[in-house]
Amino acid sequence: MMRKLGAWPAAAALLALTAVAQDKGKSQGDPEKGKVVFEQCGVCHSADSDEKKLGPGLKGLFKKSKMANGKRVTEANVRAVIDTGGNGMPAYKDMLTDEEKDDLIAYLKTL
Ligand code: HEC
Repeated sequence: MMRKLGAWPAAAALLALTAVAQDKGKSQGDPEKGKVVFEQCGVCHSADSDEKKLGPGLKGLFKKSKMANGKRVTEANVRAVIDTGGNGMPAYKDMLTDEEKDDLIAYLKTL
């Protein structure tokens, strides 16, 4: 009897929590995970300076107004660079999942 009454609010709370967690996963990445994904970018990009390795240093990327390709630094435009690459940058479209790219962008924003 008591158990049945108590289960509903608990189930509702759990559902709400799950919804929040899923929503979070979709709309914003996890910078901690993105840092791990970035290890494969680190061969060519510094995260802690804007000095050039093989590619430009990415420190402060999201604080710049434009990227080398002349496009504004927005999530969509950075994602496009990661997806298509070019000029020595590999295309990651099929090498990273959408979630990994979300995480990566969340991490790049912290630089
Ligand atoms: C093999 C070397 C290499 C690897 C690995 C690499 N990049 Fe690049 N990246 C480059 C080069 C070279 C450029 C410059 C391309 C150009 O000038 O058009 C570049 C450009 C960029 C830019 C544009 C920066 C700007 O200010 O214009 C971003 C953002 C970027 N890379 C992110 C990444 C991320 C994220 C990864 C890992 C998933 C990655 N790169 C992996 C070589 C690399």
